[in-house]
Amino acid sequence: MKKLIAGNWKMNGSLAANEALVKAMLEGLGGAVPAADMVLCAPAPYLAQLGGLLRDSPIAWGAQDVSAHEQGAFTGEVSAAMLRDFGCRYAIVGHSERRQYHAESDVTVANKAQRALAAGVTPIVCVGETLAEREAGQTELVVKRQLAAVIHVVAHCTSEIVVAYEPVWAIGTGKTATPEQAQQVHAVLRAQIAAATQHPERVHLLYGGSMNAANAASLLAQPDIDGGLIGGASLKAADFLQIVGSAR
Ligand code: PGA
Repeated sequence: MKKLIAGNWKMNGSLAANEALVKAMLEGLGGAVPAADMVLCAPAPYLAQLGGLLRDSPIAWGAQDVSAHEQGAFTGEVSAAMLRDFGCRYAIVGHSERRQYHAESDVTVANKAQRALAAGVTPIVCVGETLAEREAGQTELVVKRQLAAVIHVVAHCTSEIVVAYEPVWAIGTGKTATPEQAQQVHAVLRAQIAAATQHPERVHLLYGGSMNAANAASLLAQPDIDGGLIGGASLKAADFLQIVGSAR
């Protein structure tokens, strides 16, 4: 399976900055087929711009969140069908920043994943423990609980999701999980997926949390790490391309 490298721009960018960044990435690729599948997840207002810039390119685009509802009186929310309208192939759901700052529960995250799938958008489901949970020896318990909620709701579509293991203590902190720490959790998640679907090999298991050009190769060399979800380093074309290049 080809690896998947997803950039999470978070709340960064502008029309001008996005255009410069995307053009630098496309120039850097130079028309070659990338070593990994690539996706850029932008703030919702810029999805149309990405659609224009990335059309006929090997880079897909995605959103950073999606509503748990289909349509209607949900002011400020963006539905999965709207994302699909803009050619979005992916939507991050359950990022720890959404769980933390918007009090998203496991059930809400599961419903978001389900809405995305129903509209033909691949959810990138984020799971991960806080530092306190890791220190209390609860890492496996937490990530399994978070993933179980999603598997329960998406059921026979489990093979169509992407899962990103993002230890909260590693996000934006410069503290990466060691390849061994990440692999240990990925193996647990892989087993959980294998128990839930007949096609576990279709599910990409991404690692996220301070992944960068220097540490990507050793993380991506782990047997159960099928790609990365990259925050800070996805805002620099050269760094992001180097991560993609190390995904062989
Ligand atoms: P980071 O963010 O690479 O900046 O740590 C990863 C993420 O939050 O998805």
